[in-house]
Amino acid sequence: MPEARQILVTSALPYANGSIHLGHMLEYIQTDIWVRFQKQRGNQCVYVCADDAHGSAIMLRAEKEGITPEQLIAGVQAEHSADFADFLVDFDNFHSTHAEENRALATAIYLKLRDAGHIATRSVTQYFDPDKGMFLADRFIKGTCPKCGAEDQYGDNCEKCGATYEPTELKDPRSAISGATPVLKDSKHFFFKLPDFEAMLKQWTRSGTLQDAVANKIAEWLDGGLQEWDISRDAPYFGFEIPDEPGKYFYVWLDAPIGYMASFKNLCARRPELDFDAFWQKDSKAELYHFIGKDIVNFHTLFWPAMLEGAGYRKPTQVCVHGYLTVNGQKMSKSRGTFIKARTYLDHLNPEYLRYYYASKLSRGVDDLDLNLEDFVQKVNSDLVGKVVNIASRCAGFVHKGNAGVMVDANPEPALWDAFQAAAPAIAEAYEHRDFGRAMREIMALADRANAWIADKAPWALNKVEGKQAEVQEICAFGVNLFRQLVIFLKPVLPNLAVAAEAFLNVAPLSWQDHELRLANHLLNPFTPLMTRIEPAKIDAMIEASKEDLAAQSTEAAAPAGNGELVKEPLAAEIDFGAFAAVDLRIALIEKAEFVEGADKLLRLTLDIGDAKRNVFSGIKSAYPDPSQLEGRLTLYVANLAPRKMKFGLSEGMVLAAGPGGEEIFLLSPDAGAKPGQRVH
Ligand code: MSP
Ligand code: ZN
Repeated sequence: MPEARQILVTSALPYANGSIHLGHMLEYIQTDIWVRFQKQRGNQCVYVCADDAHGSAIMLRAEKEGITPEQLIAGVQAEHSADFADFLVDFDNFHSTHAEENRALATAIYLKLRDAGHIATRSVTQYFDPDKGMFLADRFIKGTCPKCGAEDQYGDNCEKCGATYEPTELKDPRSAISGATPVLKDSKHFFFKLPDFEAMLKQWTRSGTLQDAVANKIAEWLDGGLQEWDISRDAPYFGFEIPDEPGKYFYVWLDAPIGYMASFKNLCARRPELDFDAFWQKDSKAELYHFIGKDIVNFHTLFWPAMLEGAGYRKPTQVCVHGYLTVNGQKMSKSRGTFIKARTYLDHLNPEYLRYYYASKLSRGVDDLDLNLEDFVQKVNSDLVGKVVNIASRCAGFVHKGNAGVMVDANPEPALWDAFQAAAPAIAEAYEHRDFGRAMREIMALADRANAWIADKAPWALNKVEGKQAEVQEICAFGVNLFRQLVIFLKPVLPNLAVAAEAFLNVAPLSWQDHELRLANHLLNPFTPLMTRIEPAKIDAMIEASKEDLAAQSTEAAAPAGNGELVKEPLAAEIDFGAFAAVDLRIALIEKAEFVEGADKLLRLTLDIGDAKRNVFSGIKSAYPDPSQLEGRLTLYVANLAPRKMKFGLSEGMVLAAGPGGEEIFLLSPDAGAKPGQRVH
């Protein structure tokens, strides 16, 4: 037996100002599967996380809700903990960054960095809200885009034209908090001297700690030269005050990763066998893995290892980066009902369905992962219910009826048994390397072979043949044994199914090594259905409820998600064919599409309708920030709408689009082959 490894694992700390959704769950489920695998293998593996509780967003939200930040984060922590527990994410500890352990560690690390000369100070000029008496982070400043003139854009980038800029370049800036016009003000800031660690980072990021794609990305940053990192914020701020610097606070991202250590430290106080220093000291033999999404790579692969190095701690063994979740091929969308909260999912569906689906699609890569809801139903029903559970339900009845529940000692197909044994190392290796998709494929290939073998032996037919009952018992005992193998291999993904199967099998919790054993002369407990099929109606209900979540949100104090997303349009009254035929619909070619000076929502379209040109103003600007993308495209056009005089000129007719509004406006198009001017019937 190799010596048991000591492994500390983290998932990124979720912000304490919002609910957990299925995008987050991709990370927590992925991490949890890996941790459960390590534990099942007999390694000492500890999984810690925490809420990321600091920052001005949390301070402002608490203020809006009329509660203290401490009250806000306590409520959110309870909600998050329940979501994770119900998704079977089994943290050893779920702590908070707003905790004494974290204050002590953040302070100590900062002081070590400062005393070693890695902290610089200098004056920074920033926008300040004179009404609120606070400096404004970029996202709390709004104004007109200096490039394209779009109004109501954030302080660092324009959602309409994609330009990035400094807040000071915005035209007509105002505070998104109070509406006041911000003023420029100087303040002393503290900087972490990241360039001090360039050589170490160049080496560390290429030492097997990162996936290749991530290491390559980082290399670009490293080659571009590292900048000092601003780690301070001025009061008022919800966080930890910097030692010896009243009114100055650690920026939330300074103490957030230290929250990994703090959560572990907090756990050590309850678990005497865990030694904090053994895991974190410079020459630690323990392994340390951080699972994160691709959006927070720089914090974990540059700032964090540099901080650890500078303060005399060990660095991560690996940073495991995953891509983003899409639903039905698109970004999660509130109006489509695909922005699904963890709780909304749990109200309708079994968490193990999603755990399996994510597992089946996860690889080592950083590509985005799509939750296609049709595929989800199909895959879960066919693999888990149709293949895995089916083996047990086909065999258990015969063992109970024909042999009082006792499995006979039988290996009627040694080649098949050996194939299951031989597959185990490859499955374990796939788990170890986080290639869960490969692990699931290997396991399902075994399930296919087991089912095919049982179908071939057809114990249900054989049982009716005189003198064949002993053979039926051999087949079915073997079938149950094959099912048990699959449960062992799937246990990290399906912990509840495993518990139910262990009860049916009448065995102690199954370790990985248990796959080498075959049950013989063994009494089973009664078989109960281990998993039921997903009913597609449940998916529809979940989508509908996700739209309702949104409706509920808009009645909260927070600003509504905006732009007409809530509108559900009832069908209009019936009309006769004449009324329909009176509408002259034509195919139009968009020759030109351009912004309209002074208009927030409109684009000016020049349409070619075959024999004539038309000028149309259309309120689709928010969906087509780059109007030139529309040029050359065919669309549908109402040709006989009475012209309308607008502030910007005459609008002759209109083009047809679907969708609730905002970014989600979908201009209609004919199939290829349609010609400008053709009538639409
Ligand atoms: N608070 C920071 C992390 C601090 S770690 C010291 C944060 N929080 S978060 O709530 O925005 O995200 C938590 C994790 O969930 C991140 O790793 C993030 O990448 C991941 N995801 C958030 N939305 C996601 C998807 N839509 N898809 C996949 N992962 C997603 O970042
Ligand atoms: Zn712009």
